[in-house]
Amino acid sequence: MAASGYFCFFLLVLFAFGASLEVNGKLYPNYYKSTCPKALSIVQEGVVAAIKNETRIGASLLRLHFHDCFVNGCDGSLLLDDTGSFVGEKTAVPNNNSVRGFNVVDNIKAKLEKACPGVVSCADLLAIAARDSVVYLGGPSWQVRLGRRDSTTASRAAANTSIPPPTSNLSALISSFSAQGLSLKDLVALSGFGRSHTIGLARCIQFRGHIYNDTNIDSSFANSLQRNCPKTGNDNALANLDLQTPFSFDKLYYNNLLKKKGLLHSDQELFNGGSTDRLVKKYADDTSAFFKDFSKAMVKMGNIKPLTGKAGQIRINCRKMN
Ligand code: HEM
Ligand SMILES: *[C@@H]1O[C@H](CO)[C@@H](O)[C@H](O)[C@H]1NC(C)=O
Ligand SMILES: *[C@@H]1O[C@H](CO)[C@@H](O)[C@H](O)[C@H]1NC(C)=O
Ligand SMILES: *[C@@H]1O[C@H](CO)[C@@H](O)[C@H](O)[C@H]1NC(C)=O
Ligand SMILES: *[C@@H]1O[C@H](CO)[C@@H](O)[C@H](O)[C@H]1NC(C)=O
Ligand SMILES: *[C@@H]1O[C@H](CO)[C@@H](O)[C@H](O)[C@H]1NC(C)=O
Repeated sequence: MAASGYFCFFLLVLFAFGASLEVNGKLYPNYYKSTCPKALSIVQEGVVAAIKNETRIGASLLRLHFHDCFVNGCDGSLLLDDTGSFVGEKTAVPNNNSVRGFNVVDNIKAKLEKACPGVVSCADLLAIAARDSVVYLGGPSWQVRLGRRDSTTASRAAANTSIPPPTSNLSALISSFSAQGLSLKDLVALSGFGRSHTIGLARCIQFRGHIYNDTNIDSSFANSLQRNCPKTGNDNALANLDLQTPFSFDKLYYNNLLKKKGLLHSDQELFNGGSTDRLVKKYADDTSAFFKDFSKAMVKMGNIKPLTGKAGQIRINCRKMN
């Protein structure tokens, strides 16, 4: 009897420990429930208004969260402007002339400050805005875990090296994601789409090498892209990352990869005879598996090294430390 009592106690402890692991990195969906009950609706309204004004901004907001999280964790560091003491991440190679949406973030943050001064972090704002963008564009939903605090510094060097370039081969993509604790599945689900390359745009300079120099590309697809993206010049000409449905969240991205119609070199690497082929085939075939894995991967990405407790601060203005 005593033995089974101990056993039950043991199970209880195990269970409590397991449950505490659930709130990974001490982030909780209800974090602002009493301190800023309107936080979620304020962000959502701001996101919806911004997408109604310009559809592409939904993609841009999702990408801000990705580029924030991959550089020393989801701490809003990407949003900091340069100061006398450091150069920020905005002009790092993957970001310069590429990331966008800072004004939308500022507008939403101003509304949050009005409702609950000094409470909601910029890092959380990005995580919520990414989810709300995906949902509004027709993608899956998930519970966003909250309680991230904002950094007081940024690292251009880390942004240069931690965000994979579009020239990456598969093994470089895998190691870049695995350095963030993200799996093969996370890579394909997020990229596939998280790169949410099904909803955004890319510039000629990012895919020129792929359409002129690679052989694993459909030739009529390459020709059609070459018209707007010459061998030299027109660097900023835009192409849809998913040519048929640039502004909706669906699985065409994977079908395009099966047809050798990935826009970026790194996209086509996901279906080029390697270990991720099976996942591309699976998601091309099964939207619900894709949505499920994408949602899980977004939660995992959002959990990358958050600042919690007394670390960092809640920035009043996302562009500068208090
Ligand atoms: C797997 C490695 C990845 C690479 C190499 C990559 C690379 C790129 C490149 C080169 C662009 C075009 C940028 C430009 O032309 O200025 C882009 C756009 C984009 N990426 Fe990624 N990306 C990756 C993963 C991701 C992930 C994980 C997400 C989100 C979860 C994401 C979301 C986006 C979105 C939404 C856009 C379009 C942004 C817009 O139109 O404003 N990407 N990516
Ligand atoms: C609406 O979108 C345009 C780009 O299409 C942008 O220049 C403008 O600032 C946006 N307006 C608002 C209020 O966000
Ligand atoms: C960023 O882009 C601007 C052009 O908009 C360019 O003048 C500047 O040199 C670029 N910075 C870096 C670090 O590449
Ligand atoms: C980031 O890369 C750019 C372009 O190569 C370079 O000019 C800059 O010095 C790098 N910044 C840091 C801090 O490594
Ligand atoms: C992939 O890219 C990395 C980094 O550029 C390089 O070191 C490696 O040799 C490449 N691997 C293959 C299989 O091409
Ligand atoms: C394409 O390949 C040629 C020859 O190797 C090289 O000179 C050129 O820089 C490459 N272009 C791009 C955009 O990678």
